Amino acid sequence: MKKEVVIKTKRLVKTFKGKEVIKNFDMTVQKGTIYGFLGANGAGKTTVFKLLMGLLIPNAGKIEILGLDHAENKYEILQCIGSIIETPIFYEHLSAKENLEIHLSYMGVPNSHIENTLEIVGLKGVGKQPVSEFSLGMRQRLGIARAIIHKPKILILDEPINGLDPIGIREMRELFIDLVTNQNMTILISSHILSEIEHIADTIGVIVDGNIIEEVTLSSIKEQYPDGLEDYFFNLMKGGNKNV
Ligand SMILES: Nc1ncnc2c1ncn2[C@@H]1O[C@H](COP(=O)(O)OP(=O)(O)OP(=O)(O)O)[C@@H](O)[C@H]1O
Ligand SMILES: [Mg+2]
Repeated sequence: MKKEVVIKTKRLVKTFKGKEVIKNFDMTVQKGTIYGFLGANGAGKTTVFKLLMGLLIPNAGKIEILGLDHAENKYEILQCIGSIIETPIFYEHLSAKENLEIHLSYMGVPNSHIENTLEIVGLKGVGKQPVSEFSLGMRQRLGIARAIIHKPKILILDEPINGLDPIGIREMRELFIDLVTNQNMTILISSHILSEIEHIADTIGVIVDGNIIEEVTLSSIKEQYPDGLEDYFFNLMKGGNKNV
């Protein structure tokens, strides 16, 4: 059965100061998958995420999200996406709960599930503390809470496990799998921790210098690289075989 496509980019281009950092970029993310987006530092992952979120405007090309043209449906699309991009920014003097309330009101969603969401991300009991007193991992957990609380159809997670301890990493892994399996979400995630991507992703996209050079299923990678994603990635970065 053909899967529904939730994100599609067509020949996307983004230029900074005359330099093309995203080059004719084509990406296809299917509904109900966890898409692991891999690439070296500076390859263009965060820039792609910002383009998908409408935080940057492409110089050329097209983005379709949930079948809608991004340029014409920006607000509607934003309602359907939850994201954590680079280091999340909060109102420091406000509590975790207040930060989530502000986000929900901005999204036009009623104030529900706040306590429950804080509990899911492991922040039970600290909802009243100002965010300025939060550790790095607590901030990351709050960022994830903010990304999921309005129950988006698509989650865009840029390095979401940065700063989490091993227990936190495992909890988030289980949460992401649960969101896709039981709550109909689709996840697009970048991480330099390849073992983590290997645990959760079904599809892998690899970006090199602003170009997508591979978009394949994790199972097909594993057939060719039984030792796993790290071998595959290193081989690709060395200019090895493409198209697993
Ligand atoms: N606002 C900006 N102005 C100029 N250049 C930028 C800007 N944002 C990103 N770039 C450049 O675009 C390229 C891609 O950056 P990007 O942050 O998307 O990479 P990345 O794949 O997310 O890297 P990392 O793994 O380090 O997070 C880099 O060369 C970066 O210097
Ligand atoms: Mg980045």
